[in-house]
Amino acid sequence: MTAQPLAVYDGLVKRYGTVTAVDGLSFEVPEGAVCGLLGPNGAGKTTAIRALLGLAAPTAGSTAVLDERPGSPGFAAAVRRVGTLIEGPAIYARTTARKNMRIEAAALSLHGAEAQIEELLALVGLTDRADTRAGTFSMGMKQRLGLALALLGGPRLVVLDEPTNGLDPAGIVEVRKLIKELPARGTTVLVSSHQLAEVELMCDRATIIHRGRLLAEGTIAELLARHGGAGFATQVAPDEAGRAAEILRRAGLTATTQDDGRLAVAGAIDDGAQISRPLADEGIHVRELWREGARLEGVFLALTEDGDEEQAGAASAEVTT
Ligand SMILES: Nc1ncnc2c1ncn2[C@@H]1O[C@H](COP(=O)(O)OP(=O)(O)OP(=O)(O)O)[C@@H](O)[C@H]1O
Ligand SMILES: [Mg+2]
Repeated sequence: MTAQPLAVYDGLVKRYGTVTAVDGLSFEVPEGAVCGLLGPNGAGKTTAIRALLGLAAPTAGSTAVLDERPGSPGFAAAVRRVGTLIEGPAIYARTTARKNMRIEAAALSLHGAEAQIEELLALVGLTDRADTRAGTFSMGMKQRLGLALALLGGPRLVVLDEPTNGLDPAGIVEVRKLIKELPARGTTVLVSSHQLAEVELMCDRATIIHRGRLLAEGTIAELLARHGGAGFATQVAPDEAGRAAEILRRAGLTATTQDDGRLAVAGAIDDGAQISRPLADEGIHVRELWREGARLEGVFLALTEDGDEEQAGAASAEVTT
């Protein structure tokens, strides 16, 4: 992706005493993407997000958000322009949801924000409860209000730390859908999660971290193709495998030839015909086509097999069939 990165991690290290929460993390959040920061409990997701926003001082390395680094004159203003939802939303408990939105709009110096406030309350499903005191909200409702607050002013970047925490299954589906649609509204997303399936469903890219260290980074399709097998596998005549991979790549899929002559194919594939048809059009006939079980969960398990990313890297190379 060639878009300009809106957030940059450059060798970030954060230690708390003897605990290394983040250990040399480097990756970028390109404009227009939904980027997942994925890792189990204690992996360092919240610490990494706090550092980006200047809430935790790095031990080493650096970060930048909207081209500003912590300590630079423009940093505070850049952070104010970022919509954030970290470890439970900052809301005024004694006042209503709508009033919370008005207070935030005023803090952002947004004038004439009423229509936007109503639109965002509707977007997060809180219109009916807009005049209820936020302190009486369930955790899920507070998360939704936090999301609406983060989206006020149509920020170019939102940073969301586990935004689906506390939501019921229906709420999780709605919030994921909403997050997926943010790039179309001009908002790039950095979102953390410990749920592999969630990141796979909601994100274009993922940065997988474990014990503060980066294990893998890329688009979901790249990660699946590189580390976790693929969505589909197909077999063509061995002497046609290379050309078949080329055709599938031109069709927008990730196709990797395996040692045994099979092709691992990943991408937005709903139907095997998306693989067989472009090949048939070029005179290559599929001998076998089957759906592979490996998903992002498989990628993560392969990468963390020994809790050591070097060994895990070696292990993952063997998991590509
Ligand atoms: N303020 C702090 N003081 C001491 N240790 C901390 C502090 N913040 C985080 N840590 C430690 O750093 C490590 C990473 O924590 P962090 O909260 O960033 O993980 P996380 O990936 O967000 O986890 P979770 O999924 O549980 O939210 C943990 O071992 C945690 O105990
Ligand atoms: Mg956390």
